Amino acid sequence: IQKVIKKICCIGAGYVGGPTMAIIAQKCPEIEITVVDLNQKRIDQWNDTDVSNIPIYEPGLSDVVAEARGRNLFFDTDIDKAIDESDMIFISVNTPTKTYGKGKGMAADLKYIELCARQIARVAKSDKIVVEKSTLPVRTAQALKNILDHTGNDVNFEILSNPEFLAEGTAVSDLTNPDRVLIGGQQETEKGKQAVEALVSIYANWVPKDKILTTNLWSSELSKLTANAFLAQRVSSINAMSELCEITGANVDEVAKAIGMDSRIGPKFLKSSVGFGGSCFQKDILNLVYIAKSYGLNEVADYWEQVILMNDHQKRRFAHNIVKTLYNTVSDKKIAFLGWAFKKDTNDTRESPAIYVAEELLLEQAKISVWDPKVKDAQVYTDINTLGSIEADEVDNKLQVAKDPYEACKNSHAIAVLTEWEEFNTYDWQRIYDNMHKPAFVFDGRGVLDKNKLQEIGFVYYRIGEGGV
Ligand code: UDX
Ligand code: UDX
Ligand code: ADP
Repeated sequence: IQKVIKKICCIGAGYVGGPTMAIIAQKCPEIEITVVDLNQKRIDQWNDTDVSNIPIYEPGLSDVVAEARGRNLFFDTDIDKAIDESDMIFISVNTPTKTYGKGKGMAADLKYIELCARQIARVAKSDKIVVEKSTLPVRTAQALKNILDHTGNDVNFEILSNPEFLAEGTAVSDLTNPDRVLIGGQQETEKGKQAVEALVSIYANWVPKDKILTTNLWSSELSKLTANAFLAQRVSSINAMSELCEITGANVDEVAKAIGMDSRIGPKFLKSSVGFGGSCFQKDILNLVYIAKSYGLNEVADYWEQVILMNDHQKRRFAHNIVKTLYNTVSDKKIAFLGWAFKKDTNDTRESPAIYVAEELLLEQAKISVWDPKVKDAQVYTDINTLGSIEADEVDNKLQVAKDPYEACKNSHAIAVLTEWEEFNTYDWQRIYDNMHKPAFVFDGRGVLDKNKLQEIGFVYYRIGEGGV
């Protein structure tokens, strides 16, 4: 086992692998890093001479890539070569929810992970440290080790778990200045300890030692699922209160502020919304629920499942409130969507609440016009068509992506805010109002618009979690 890592290979050039490796490369110029992927187009985008065309939009990321790319950061599709030459291999491939067979809709699909393990075993001719970067079910490291040891070329593999806690939209600052770095390994063996030390010393180049936490493998794997479950639970908890606020005349932002000042609760992650989205929360909780069930822990499973059920309810409730308010029919009415991404400062739309709100409204025969500052037109159509619940020509007919916010809102009956993009507050709201049907409704699913200003202009303004006066 190499104590000083000279070459790293990262399998998977996605939202996790790309930014993580870019930062390691920036902070450790003496380590050569190759990020590989099966997807030629994605690799080409990472290599685009115009660095603003890299496939993932994250504030500050293109500067980091510009600095390191070609120096000690490389993107390639030759996976075998990168594995062969490396001392340490990060696995950052996707682990979507299974769409078939046992555990369908719940369990993590580990086929991409297993393919990586088999490829590493086949190719490796020297000892390797294999790092799980993707979020995985607890005890996956065991399966990895079995495959590597039984199909490999008699070289030594040490498995580490090093889950990534970065959030999208803040990837660069999260990676540069993490709350903690978690490294799980087999501390009870000498080689296991050395492997942990090798990874610790990489992070120690920029992360203070007291923020680098080392644990056993299973704690590390489980902590990642637990962290996401707790975060999602906070959102579902405040969203549950938002519904009660709306009925009782309380204001969810005031409630959140009041409870957040209790240092035991803390102020962060208490923003009520139209629901959480993103690739992680739902997938990881479903996975946690599945794991609990598979050990017969039904109460544990049911407890966490409520977080998802509440979230589904919040999205549906938002859509139904629009229909109800628009006199119980939205058929052929135009509704403008401000925002499609699952949160601001990202072009990612995976599990975005906007998709599900749009689905409900399209099923009510509404026309939807979408404006999002970063999401590409085709992505919006793909997201809806992937649901499979609405006929393709109906989608073409009713769903439109606008060139700018004014076009999206023109002649609409209502505006729905689905993402908390800051630019929404800079629009000429008088102009938007003048071009809408009256009464002009705004449904603010993120609680971000200037209520007083909009009401002065004449909008009928509804904000998630705010009771009617
Ligand atoms: C609680 C609230 O903390 C307080 O703000 C409110 O005004 C009244 O209710 P109290 O019931 O006195 O106060 O005690 P608290 O320290 O909150 O503990 C409540 C229970 O939770 C205890 O049985 C405690 O042992 C348990 N607990 C608390 C845990 O099991 N684990 C913890 O991490 C914290
Ligand atoms: C999350 C975790 O934060 C991160 O640590 C983990 O590595 C991956 O999953 P991410 O999905 O990128 O990151 O975004 P996050 O900022 O956590 O937001 C998730 C969703 O919750 C978004 O849809 C966001 O709008 C929503 N949210 C978040 C709220 O509705 N209210 C809040 O207070 C916080
Ligand atoms: P994440 O959010 O976990 O980073 P992404 O879907 O953004 O997930 O990225 C995962 C990447 O892993 C994709 O670009 C995919 O093509 C790549 N990938 C999946 N399986 C393999 C494999 N066996 N070898 C190489 N790359 C893979």
